[in-house]
Amino acid sequence: MKRILVVFGGRSVEHDVSIITAINSIIKPLRLTKKYQVEPLYIAKDGRWYWDEALSNIETYSSGKIDSLIKKLKPVNLSFENGLVISNGKSFNSKKAQIDIVFPALHGTYGEDGDLMGLLEMAGVAYVGCGVAASAIAMDKVIAKQLAIANKIPTSNFLFYRSKDYKDNPVTVLNEINTHLNWPLFVKPTHLGSSIGISRVSSNDELGNAIELAFHYDDLVVVEEEVSNLIEVTLPIIGNETPEPAYLEKPTLQKADFFDFDAKYLRGGKKGSKNGQASSSYSEVPAQLPKKLYKAAEELGVNVYKTFGLSGIARVDMLIDSKLNKVYFNEINPLPGSLYSHNFQKFGLSNVELVEKLLFFAMEKFEQKNKLNSSFSTNYLKQF
Ligand SMILES: Nc1ncnc2c1ncn2[C@@H]1O[C@H](COP(=O)(O)OP(=O)(O)O)[C@@H](O)[C@H]1O
Ligand SMILES: [Mg+2]
Repeated sequence: MKRILVVFGGRSVEHDVSIITAINSIIKPLRLTKKYQVEPLYIAKDGRWYWDEALSNIETYSSGKIDSLIKKLKPVNLSFENGLVISNGKSFNSKKAQIDIVFPALHGTYGEDGDLMGLLEMAGVAYVGCGVAASAIAMDKVIAKQLAIANKIPTSNFLFYRSKDYKDNPVTVLNEINTHLNWPLFVKPTHLGSSIGISRVSSNDELGNAIELAFHYDDLVVVEEEVSNLIEVTLPIIGNETPEPAYLEKPTLQKADFFDFDAKYLRGGKKGSKNGQASSSYSEVPAQLPKKLYKAAEELGVNVYKTFGLSGIARVDMLIDSKLNKVYFNEINPLPGSLYSHNFQKFGLSNVELVEKLLFFAMEKFEQKNKLNSSFSTNYLKQF
């Protein structure tokens, strides 16, 4: 029986969302198959790692018992012995487990952005989803937009600034923005998600404040032109070399709600949807768009997936100017919340089939990588 380690929680602002993704969309369906030994690995908000069966129970978190539970538990020890081994202590009788595949379920910083993937690469263990570079690029709005431009993928015009450069010379920055970009503008921290620190500004008076707000969250800030007559769409995709897109999806939240974490995540809740994901009841799947426009967005999404070297699973967000019928790349989520399983389900892939496919892609990628020759003998050391 393959042992799967599901890693969730974490130090990002999306800690709580990650718990739901892990328990509802990964651990439950994997256990339903009775084909895997599933181990929950919870990363607390302070960054400590814990491994215990009670951590796979949603009630542990909803009841608040989590705090007393982790006080009792010993943080996990990791060792790299022919892959990844976890143990719940240092003594000889500690519980130990050799992991076959890691299933990352972390959203945001310290996990979805490539940090965890680096650790797993060093450990030499198979894992689900995008690799180090693809994850890091996906979570960096500046590099992602630059890579899009380098590959002739349309994205809204933008400028970006480091905190120090702005603080040393705010007037120059504001002048540059006014010279090169068309209003209204969006100001965003480069590495965050969930609309945190983002502002839409339509006048110079608001611009300085918006930039300062974004610098509150990040050292690097993007200022970009608004895509007008906006239709937002997102495309969840799975696969390695041959991307398999699900349905193009159109969120039906009001525009104002997109700046509001609660609107995005709380309204769905338990009652709003079967698996606690807000998006299913607040979106249109498949997006009702003219055929040509649907096709164009789907193609752009798949093109981004291939160009950015995404693997396993990712969601590509796009902005459509519905008057110009033009699709722009906006951003990538390498680990979509709840795996966007509501969309795949509509597409004909059950949650169980989805997670099993993702394990297959993880093994496929791992085996392919292991086939590559990574060492060769030299006489270099003989001279010393
Ligand atoms: N250039 C833009 N034109 C129009 N709307 C935008 C633009 N950039 C962002 N938005 C709006 O702001 C929301 C959040 O921006 P986004 O870049 O997706 O950040 P996050 O990583 O926080 O999700 C988008 O979902 C969209 O509604
Ligand atoms: Mg977004």
